[in-house]
Amino acid sequence: MANAKVAIVGAGNVGATTALSLAQLNIADIVLVDIVEGMPQGKALDMMQMAPLLGLDVAITGTNNYKDIAGSNVVVITAGIPRKPGMSRDDLLKTNAGIVGEVVDNVVQYAPDSIIVMVSNPLDVMTYLAYEKSGFGKKRVVGMAGVLDSVRFRCFVAMELGVSVKEVAAMVLGGHGDSMVPLPDYTTVSGIPIGKLIPKDAIDRMIARTQKAGGEIVALLKTGSAYYAPAAAAAAMVESILLDQKQLLPCATFLEGEYGISDVFIGVPVILGKEGVEKVIELELSPEDSGKLKTSAQHVKSTIEDLKKLMA
Ligand code: NAI
Ligand code: 2OP
Repeated sequence: MANAKVAIVGAGNVGATTALSLAQLNIADIVLVDIVEGMPQGKALDMMQMAPLLGLDVAITGTNNYKDIAGSNVVVITAGIPRKPGMSRDDLLKTNAGIVGEVVDNVVQYAPDSIIVMVSNPLDVMTYLAYEKSGFGKKRVVGMAGVLDSVRFRCFVAMELGVSVKEVAAMVLGGHGDSMVPLPDYTTVSGIPIGKLIPKDAIDRMIARTQKAGGEIVALLKTGSAYYAPAAAAAAMVESILLDQKQLLPCATFLEGEYGISDVFIGVPVILGKEGVEKVIELELSPEDSGKLKTSAQHVKSTIEDLKKLMA
């Protein structure tokens, strides 16, 4: 049987590192696409030369031609500009809407049966744009943010307690911005709720750090934003789709009344399998967390309104 095929559009920091993470899973051929001539080809060739050392048996190619994404099962979109210090993700709206819109047109033309995994920022709004432009339906357009935000929270909990990160499970919902909603009630260490292990003020500190975690890295790097963890998060989503693993992951999905929210892409737990978003899981939230999720959705909605004005 032919290998599955994944196209990654945008071969910059996140795109190339996603290709690397995915290649190491050995589950799909990978096509890296970028507008910069030679760059995706060079990175793909470099990764192919790494393959013998790592025992990988997938084809990795680079291209500037969208025809080469034909037959892709999944298309990961990472094209666009990243943040610089002092910028919010929403500051990227105008530039990235133009880029993502053009990418989605090409995905529709050349990979009409694919599932889109959006990564470009502002994440929830770019996912909405891809949904509107592609006509693929809500199962086949999904955004990567909650997986990243949740692993960041897991990491901070493990660091605080000095325990293995493997034992920590966490859930972060909401939009991919400062209004995201880390859920301490659904965050555990070997099944023990963190409220039983960590004082409230320390949990509040970790929640605030998680909400600003992307900005913390931007401030350190100064030239761009995070890419190792984002790439691993995108690869985990692709793996769940291609292998039909049905992992329960927080992802940006289109809500139609779930959590009392409609007509917006926002991060909630979903089952991710070969159909894409196969089910939205409705958790019971405290009135406080439910209110925060609605506020976060309202923020995404107002950025969607800004997008509509830009496109008018
Ligand atoms: P980067 O600047 O390293 O790479 C972006 C790439 O997109 C560049 O190689 C550029 O040539 C390419 N590109 C630009 N226009 C294009 C077009 N029309 N067609 C194809 N390729 C095009 O940026 P990086 O760090 O890889 O970030 C990419 C995006 O992902 C940014 O918008 C960033 O904010 C976002 N991001 C989102 C995360 C999330 O959690 N959802 C996490 C990390 C980054
Ligand atoms: C992050 O959270 C930039 O959205 C990206 O690191």
